[in-house]
Amino acid sequence: MVGIDQVLEKLSTVIDPDLKKDIVSMGMIKDLELNDGALKFTLELTTPACPFNVEIEDDVRKAIADISDLKNFELKVTAKVMEGRSLDDDTSMKTVKNIIGVASGKGGVGKSTVSLNLALALQQTGAKVGLLDADIYGPSIPLMLGMKDGSMQVEENKLQPADSHGLKVVSFGFFADQSNQAAIYRGPIISGILKQFLVDTAWTDLDYLIVDLPPGTGDIPLTLAQTIPITGILVITTPQDVASHVAVKAVSMFEKLNVPILGVVENMSHFICPNCDDKHYIFGEGGGLKISEQFKIPFLGEIPLNAGIMSGSDSGKPIMITNPDSPSAVAFRKSAKNIAAQCSIQAAKLQEEMKAESSGDSSESTEKETTESAPKAAAKPTPESTTQN
Ligand SMILES: Nc1ncnc2c1ncn2[C@@H]1O[C@H](COP(=O)(O)OP(=O)(O)OP(=O)(O)O)[C@@H](O)[C@H]1O
Ligand SMILES: [Mg+2]
Repeated sequence: MVGIDQVLEKLSTVIDPDLKKDIVSMGMIKDLELNDGALKFTLELTTPACPFNVEIEDDVRKAIADISDLKNFELKVTAKVMEGRSLDDDTSMKTVKNIIGVASGKGGVGKSTVSLNLALALQQTGAKVGLLDADIYGPSIPLMLGMKDGSMQVEENKLQPADSHGLKVVSFGFFADQSNQAAIYRGPIISGILKQFLVDTAWTDLDYLIVDLPPGTGDIPLTLAQTIPITGILVITTPQDVASHVAVKAVSMFEKLNVPILGVVENMSHFICPNCDDKHYIFGEGGGLKISEQFKIPFLGEIPLNAGIMSGSDSGKPIMITNPDSPSAVAFRKSAKNIAAQCSIQAAKLQEEMKAESSGDSSESTEKETTESAPKAAAKPTPESTTQN
């Protein structure tokens, strides 16, 4: 009669393509029961947005089908997002498992558009998602969500995020008249506002918090990198050389601060002709790929140029909601899955580091001992963490 060892041995042949580890050692098999040849267990995936969810489930079924003398097999598939930021006892924002900063070197490349649609794409997979509009100088998320007159309440000294399409949203634009005055605020005040938005907001349990940053390498991106541990940075660029050259500056700054770079998404990548479905590379080709190769960071997707994206943004109707089957929405969904996969990879690295630390292997800190380092409890990236596939 088949035994549990045999089942686990078979299941260990199933490898998670992102994490490059077998699903048994990753703890993805839960509640396994084997009674008189009747087998049941739960496969707990690392994120509902994993690009390989179907493939992993298929591989599990195939592995089990290989076992003879099983009378019955019941499989339940769930997903529990891994913590991609180290959450020590004294870490703020403990209820947020992953924080993703969306950055660019240059303005107007589509950070806000991409942040919003990615947040919606992740949310549509079943993940719990928040969106923090950290562009205090020029908040655009309320307009893009049709919430120009939206506001946030304060309860028990905590900001209550607004709710839109199931997203938890915080923006400086929700404070009446403030957005017009933001330009006169100086560095320390701007940093203070961002810190409050981060740590004084009643974020409920979130799998992913997307932080839409202003362009460049100023006070706001610096504050994000130095205030709380974050999972990583997503860099947005357009295909033109000029934009990608500036994007390099943003990548370099976060690398210097020891913050992992999750990868790069190229926006306004190409135009799909509505008549012939051909791709036209209006702004040139390969800006995102170039950065990905130069910094050895993953290339996570390309979003087409589409008039619907722009008009949807201006009228407060994001394309992920109004036209979820369009090529643009498909591209956002694909990128969102790749980003979720990168968060799982960061989380797995963190777990390994914690294991190594508790077994006393890593007495030497991998953190740079400089004043520029990411906060103490940050995701302690090793140099390799920015150079994976
Ligand atoms: N893929 C796209 N197709 C068509 N229009 C787009 C696309 N992405 C962004 N846009 C449009 O480009 C403009 C700039 O986008 P967005 O505001 O998202 O850029 P940003 O990088 O956040 O800008 P800023 O640096 O000012 O914060 C907006 O009008 C937006 O609707
Ligand atoms: Mg913006």
